[in-house]
This record gives sequence, structure tokens and C-alpha cells, in this order.
Amino acid sequence: MDHAALIAAHGSPLYVYDLDTVRARCRALKAAVPYAPFQPLFAIKANPCPAVARAILAEGFGIDAVSPGEVAMALHLGLDPQRVVYTENNMTDAEQAEAVAQGVLVNCGSIDRLERLAQAGVKRCAVRFNPDIGAGAHEKICTAGPLTKFGVPNAHIERVLEIERRTGIRVVGAHMHIGSGFLEPDAFAQACTVIFALAARLPHLEFVDCGGGIGIPYRAEQKPMDLAAMGRRLAADMEAFCARYGRRMELRLEPGRFLVAESGTLLCTVTSVKETPEGRVFVGTDTGFNHLVRVAMYDAFHRIDNLSRPDAPRRKVDVVGNICESGDIFARDRELPLPQVGDILAIRDAGAYGFAMASTYNLRPLPAEVVLDGGGVRLARPRQDIAALIAAWS
Ligand SMILES: Cc1ncc(COP(=O)(O)O)c(C=O)c1O
Repeated sequence: MDHAALIAAHGSPLYVYDLDTVRARCRALKAAVPYAPFQPLFAIKANPCPAVARAILAEGFGIDAVSPGEVAMALHLGLDPQRVVYTENNMTDAEQAEAVAQGVLVNCGSIDRLERLAQAGVKRCAVRFNPDIGAGAHEKICTAGPLTKFGVPNAHIERVLEIERRTGIRVVGAHMHIGSGFLEPDAFAQACTVIFALAARLPHLEFVDCGGGIGIPYRAEQKPMDLAAMGRRLAADMEAFCARYGRRMELRLEPGRFLVAESGTLLCTVTSVKETPEGRVFVGTDTGFNHLVRVAMYDAFHRIDNLSRPDAPRRKVDVVGNICESGDIFARDRELPLPQVGDILAIRDAGAYGFAMASTYNLRPLPAEVVLDGGGVRLARPRQDIAALIAAWS
């Protein structure tokens, strides 16, 4: 990849996604779970770029959507509504009506929503349970346990059963998603035990969805998740569950990050190099937490490479952005080949929750996105323009 040519063509900063990496992760996940029928879904919140999502759908994935916009994107991509699940949280009645009209299965995150669906005459839904065991790389992305807003508490299974009996709605899916970015399988395995115990009580089940959350090694010293071990254990637990249940049914997972994080790079350009009297070196760039919020929001770590000057003498620097906030930092005390103004930096593993969480804070436009596909480069989304940003108010 000729980074300088990409930036010359599409501007800096620039998101770049490598579709071969995306496909490789999809295949690794499918190969790791020796259970059939296995239906993986893509949690499209991680990266809604249509070219990326299309590559994943072509690998046989469905879509886990969490908003009307994500459902609309899934349908826009031509996906059969039956392969879309809308995992709601605090959905409105209008959003419910729209999802039902679209033929998408609603995955209820509260007893209130389950009641509302039943009242509306909906015949099938899934229920997201909170198995009381969370996991995740940061407390803000831990989505189960007593402090999170998500899911029906597992202690409320009786209420779910009562609504089923009283209204005739069928809970066809038992779902959990315990958090994001975990590399150790233990909490996930324990939570699976809880979800299988809950699933065993639901009489009309067609699938069990154990969610997403598989992490990636952002730091060089981190080991990737042992996917094969996780998959074998999950498949064995699912087999045992189905044997007890008396019927074979579909197993689902819905990763986001694992499929797309490593495919993505945020390229940016160094705009200033400032050494303070105390000896701190600030490497300023033409992007900021408006384009990649993970460091500011989750204390996340992203590897950074100096593509223009890989052999320069190394120096400890702070890599910072151009947003008017002191928290606009990509890396503190990071040893890098000392950049000079004009150098291109690559912020790695930015394919998940990167552009997807980007904003126009400080009225800075969104960067372009390009995909690399088998040697070719395609523009997926042009750089936003300031005039369009302003015109949105008029
Ligand atoms: C319901 C649900 N499923 C799946 C995911 C995907 O998580 P990850 O990207 O960590 O795999 C999320 C992410 O927050 C989610 O909320």
C-alpha cells in the first residue's frame, strides 16, 4: 500500500480497511466453532462501512443491529430481514413498529419491551438476558453484571415465562452479550453456562446467541484469544444443552471488533513537533478524538507507526490531535522513530469503533474511507466537506 499516494488522492486523515483481513477473520471464526447449525452475525455497530459489511455478509454472516439506522443499513445491503436481529435498548414504540413492519426479529432488553411487543400482537422475539457476569477491556464496555443497563436480569426469567404463557408471544432466541474486548475465555464460558440454564426454561427456542466481545491484541505483548479452545468449549456446551433440551437448534455469535479491528488503519499527517523546556515532545497530527475516540474514552491502546521515517532515531513522544481539548491524546510517552512535520503516521487496529464513533466536534469534517481489496483500492466514502457540515443547519 502506497500510503503517500492514498493520502494524496483522498486527503489526510484517512481511514483504510483491508478486506482480505476482514475475510480472514470471518473464516477463522467459522472454523473455530465445530457446531452446526452455526450462524454468526456481524455487530455492524463496529464498522458500518458498506464495503466492509458486504465482505462479511458474503462470508455467510447475518447482522446484529442496535438501532433503526443499522437495520436500514442491513436491508440496504440487501440482507434478508430474517437474517437481521435488532438488539434493542430503550427502543421507542415507533421504532418497534418500524422493525416489526420490516420483518426484523426484535431482541428485547427489558420486560417492558417484551410486554409492548406482545401487546402489539408480535408472535416471535428474542430476549437478551443479563447473566450477571460481565467482561470487557474497560468498565465502559462491560455490558453485563449489576451496574449495566442491558438485558433482562436473569432472575426475571419467571416474568418472561409468564408473559409467554399469558400473551402467546414466543421467545425464540435466548441472547447475551457480556462485554467487549475480552481475551480470556473464562468469564465468557461462565456466562454461557448461565444463558444455557435460562435457555433450558424457554419452551419455544430456535437459537441461542452468546453475543460478541472477542478481543484483539492491541498491544504487542498481548496474546490473541485462543479461538479454537473457545469454539470447542462453546460447541460442546451447545451440544450438551441441545441434548438436554431434546432438540438441536442454531448457535449464534455476533462479534464486531474481532472481525474488523485489525483490518483498519487511521492514517494521519504530522503537523507540528514541539519540545517543551521540560523535555516532553508533543507530536501534533491533523486528526483527533473526533475521528478515533477510543483512547480518550476507554484509555485504549493503539500501536502507531511512523510510515515516512521508520529508521529515524527513536524518541519518547506524546502523539496528540488537533481538537481543542487536553484529553485529545493518542499516546503518552510512546517510543517512536522521531517524526518530522509532514510525516505520515499509521494508527493501527482502528477498524472497529473508529469511524463508527467519529463525530464532527470542533466542526471538523469526517475523513474519507477507502478499502483495499485484492490489490485494488476503492473509495468507500469521500471526505466530508465543511460547506456540507454547515449547510446541515440551514
Ligand atoms: C448487542 C451487542 N452485540 C455485539 C456487540 C459486539 O461487540 P464486539 O465488537 O466487542 O464483538 C456489541 C457491542 O457493543 C453489542 O452491544
